[in-house]
Amino acid sequence: MSDTTNKRFYITTPIYYPSAKLHIGHTYCTTIADTVARFKRRVGYDVRFLTGSDEHGQKIQRAAEALGITPLEYTTKIVNGFQELWKALNISNDDFIRTTEKRHEKVVQYLFQKAYDKGDIYKSKYKGWYCTPDETFWTEQKLGPNHTCPDCGRPVEEVEEESYFFRMGKYADQWLKFIEENPDFIQPEARRNEMIQFVKQGLEDLAVSRTSFDWGIKVPFDPKHVVYVWFDALVNYISALNPLEEDDSLFKKFWPADIHLVGKEIVRFHSIIWPIMLMSLELPIPKKVFGHGWLVVDGTKMSKSLGNVVDPIPLINMYGSDALRYYLLSEIHLGNDGNFTLPNFVQRVNSDLANDLGNLLNRTVAMIEKYHGGVITAMPSVSEFDKDLAAMAETTVKDYENYMEAFDLNRALKTVWAFIGRTNKYIDETMPWVLAKGAEAGDAEKLQTVMYHLAEALRIIAVLVDPVIPTGAPKIWEQLGLTGFAEAKLDDVRQWGGLASGTKVVKGEPIYPRFEVTEMVEAPAETAKAEDAKAADKGAAKTGTEGADETDHVNDGAEAAEQEIPPIKENVEYDDFAKLDLRVAKVISCEKVKKSKKLLKFVLDVGVEERTVVSGISQYYEPEDMIGKKVIYLANLAPKKLMGIESYGMILSASDFADHLEVTNIESLIPGSLVK
Ligand code: ME8
Ligand code: MG
Repeated sequence: MSDTTNKRFYITTPIYYPSAKLHIGHTYCTTIADTVARFKRRVGYDVRFLTGSDEHGQKIQRAAEALGITPLEYTTKIVNGFQELWKALNISNDDFIRTTEKRHEKVVQYLFQKAYDKGDIYKSKYKGWYCTPDETFWTEQKLGPNHTCPDCGRPVEEVEEESYFFRMGKYADQWLKFIEENPDFIQPEARRNEMIQFVKQGLEDLAVSRTSFDWGIKVPFDPKHVVYVWFDALVNYISALNPLEEDDSLFKKFWPADIHLVGKEIVRFHSIIWPIMLMSLELPIPKKVFGHGWLVVDGTKMSKSLGNVVDPIPLINMYGSDALRYYLLSEIHLGNDGNFTLPNFVQRVNSDLANDLGNLLNRTVAMIEKYHGGVITAMPSVSEFDKDLAAMAETTVKDYENYMEAFDLNRALKTVWAFIGRTNKYIDETMPWVLAKGAEAGDAEKLQTVMYHLAEALRIIAVLVDPVIPTGAPKIWEQLGLTGFAEAKLDDVRQWGGLASGTKVVKGEPIYPRFEVTEMVEAPAETAKAEDAKAADKGAAKTGTEGADETDHVNDGAEAAEQEIPPIKENVEYDDFAKLDLRVAKVISCEKVKKSKKLLKFVLDVGVEERTVVSGISQYYEPEDMIGKKVIYLANLAPKKLMGIESYGMILSASDFADHLEVTNIESLIPGSLVK
């Protein structure tokens, strides 16, 4: 058990520019932060989770001018949209800071003055380049081709104006020493090395005020200058803790931050400029800056001009906030870029949420109702299956906690879903519908044990999945008839057997609906209106499983019963069918295709020769399990190049739309045998 007495945890996201609507890329960081915050609360930390909006600067001023409204009118409207989005995504931030708030301006001016008084800020002239969309200064040498921003590739503008400068250069050695002494400060490691290189190349003093426009916080001792927007923005992490108020308890308690979560392109501001500002101001430096990757859509970075900006609101309206949150965190390893595709999204939601988790709850509650009038009786583990399940629950909690503490959310979720899979398998192993017939002595007790084990597994699972799917998780406890979910701690589920006798289940709606394959096509990408999505939602979402009866045949029939089995296609002539060269082929070798999640490369003995074929079934089979299998093979399909490999023909497989897929295994025929 971890000792969390007096432990506090302060986590932040970047404050977003209200320059456009937020897209799903922006929801990525906030979802990570929210999940970590919720996890830490379950561990028992006193958590503070901050997000907000970064409202000053040239970019905002121009956008407002173009619309003929004041910058504040402009940002207020957009920031209201942020707040709605975070609510829709079930984000549990403790505070939301706007840089246009007095409480923030006050602290920025105070700190600017402090650095000036110390001699770390001096007046000079800035002559160089500026990337307005990124709000970044660049020297001539660092620019990309044709005067473009080396970070984002957009054109830079030439700037010449009076500016105050911050003595960054003075702190280069101190920074390098700090990084050496705090090797975990910048993560992942690749980012850390980049930053060290950047500083070693020489750190120039930074222009920290502007005079060519006025939408910003005034420099206290020279009001024709406004504070440079990054110097302004970074201070939000402190200003939100009210350090200058009479009651500065938040600041005392929560500063320094435990982690600033940021996108990879702004790691530089957070890991170089920010700590150096704090060194100058003699304030403690945060413990960690974590740079996550970008979410790309269908392989390309989201951008308005490309029109591939995915609006999170219709996505949430249609599929639910848990679906989006789960997908973002389970699909992408923190630090890497992740690719969003709608079919992949729908498939994950169907298989992991509706099927694996939702169905497990449904079956369990339905069986307890049917067999035991809804009442759970605490029973000890007896069989190997029981003991194995209980033991795995305990190791799952431990592994999950370790991964979460290391911000390896992706692996933490995999661990929990492996346990969910184990629990589903436990139903197949123990066959409660057979025990219910009571053919043998002791079957009744066994059935109670099985029901108890399922309910207890779900009690534990709910607490573990709550940080990522906080809308559905409480419903698991509700349906199990348990109370107090909001206060439950990780400590309450570390040990098997916490579920008390006499608890009565409350059957409810399936917690996650399944979505039709056809809905994938009607993707609510940036073109779809929220209203359309809502309308579609009403008609389209199909519930997971209905009725308790299927628990009699969970083994086979249940899954088929909940699928929409497609109707028989139009007739074809025999001659058309006969054109297909279908035959038995034996797998000689099989390996994963590098850099592909789905593809396996096979060499097949097809009787007359050997054939190479690439097949997208890597999710379903380990390569070594395929070797020696005799599959049905379509030999005369025109060859096609996949990931640079020439693939001949196709291995036939059957799939039930529920993430299950099987290839045939012909027992006694030789390779080359014809299929007719
Ligand atoms: O940079 N995938 O604000 P911002 C993942 N105001 N993350 C993405 C993304 C994508 N496709 N697109 C954007 C700023 N982000 C400053 C921050 S903090 C003191 C000031 C992330 O609105 C991006 O990486 O341009 C960044 O972390 C965040 O959204 C805000 O970006
Ligand atoms: Mg940006």
